[in-house]
Amino acid sequence: MHPFNYYTPTKVIFGRNAEEKTAGLIREFGGKKVLIHYGGGSVVRSGLLKRVTDSLDTAGIPYVTLGGAVPNPRLGLVYQGIELCRRENVDFLLAVGGGSAIDSAKAIGYGVANEGDVWDFYDYKRKAEGCLPLGVILTIAATGSEMSDSSVITKEEGLVKRGYSSDYGRPRFAVMDPELTMTLPDYQTACGCTDIMMHTMERYFTNGGGMEITDALAEGLLCTVMKNAEILVRDPKDYDARAEIMWAGSLSHNGLTGCGNDGGDWMTHKLEHELGGLYDVAHGAGLAAIWGSWARYVYRDCLPRFRRFAINVMGVEEAGTDEEIALKGIEALEDFFRRIHMPTNLRELGVHATKEDLALMAHKCAVGVNGAKGSARLLKEEDMLAIFRASM
Ligand code: NZQ
Ligand code: ZN
Repeated sequence: MHPFNYYTPTKVIFGRNAEEKTAGLIREFGGKKVLIHYGGGSVVRSGLLKRVTDSLDTAGIPYVTLGGAVPNPRLGLVYQGIELCRRENVDFLLAVGGGSAIDSAKAIGYGVANEGDVWDFYDYKRKAEGCLPLGVILTIAATGSEMSDSSVITKEEGLVKRGYSSDYGRPRFAVMDPELTMTLPDYQTACGCTDIMMHTMERYFTNGGGMEITDALAEGLLCTVMKNAEILVRDPKDYDARAEIMWAGSLSHNGLTGCGNDGGDWMTHKLEHELGGLYDVAHGAGLAAIWGSWARYVYRDCLPRFRRFAINVMGVEEAGTDEEIALKGIEALEDFFRRIHMPTNLRELGVHATKEDLALMAHKCAVGVNGAKGSARLLKEEDMLAIFRASM
């Protein structure tokens, strides 16, 4: 068992109409002037933004707004947000939306609280020494950014998508009303469920040992997400299923399912970030498209975990060799992805990559991980290229 730090300072307000508590929460955490940051407009269309600004007006909390955070949020808007915050003396950020709005807000927060170019943090050149305090109203269960220490930003020049992790970026509060996710397109709901599973699976498929309690939590979380994802395919308005998935999303990426292991594998995410950077695909769909090829490439080097996953999570019978059981587990998860209408290869994802694109992605990925990464199996550039090729 590895030693670990578990730090989850985020106050969670969960349930119907939780967003009505937002103004009080901003006051509680000392916000005097707020930047409300959101995405491409879903919160305008749903009326959520208006309800939030009305409640801040009533509470007498001044604010400015900045929309436009796109999926795979861009550095250019982050720079705009930093400028705006400095000009308006903003001291608190409120992200209303999904991982993209939250991550963009975190980056703005780093940019305001630190001198110099905020991209330096994403380029691993230096570490942030602070972040503006941030609150979140979550509208899609997916990335877990509402409780996580990470933020993922895409630099337009060279389409470089990179993550930066720091405890300073963990939100002060997260408002989670499962009903807010009911306006999601089915595709985004399924992308979210995939991402949630993958945050736990990245921590689960390791060769670094672990803890019984962590494995039990991880397996319980994965089974719960799969069950409720299928309920939502049939009935997207099922409140309880939405709630199960929303809370699973936070627990999957707040560190809980990694306690005692070696930090996890994370190569499916690294490979997906290249797809997201180059082709602007939805993160969850990109993960589903690459996972099977990654799993088939590495499973022999992490056989006990793949066997256990097949039996405990995918319900595969304990008959046959370990390799056969592991492969059945991989196939069963791909079948699940198909049932929730997720792609299982790049073609189904709508990506028709050239040989040069595949080589470029593998190269950028290798640079992004400093040469090699992975716990299930350590992958170098040639391995990354082989996985991209297999996923065609
Ligand atoms: O932009 P709007 O108009 O709000 O529309 C969004 C967007 O088109 C829409 N949406 C969100 N809530 C909705 C809604 N539409 C209708 N009703 C609602 N209630 O859904 C689309 C996707 O939103 P986005 O915020 O992009 O999704 P997600 O939460 O999946 O975030 C994806 C980004 O987060 C990064 C991903 O790489 C990607 O850039 N990640 C962040 C992580 C973190 N910070 O910890 C970890 C993840 O592994 C991931 O890398
Ligand atoms: Zn993810």
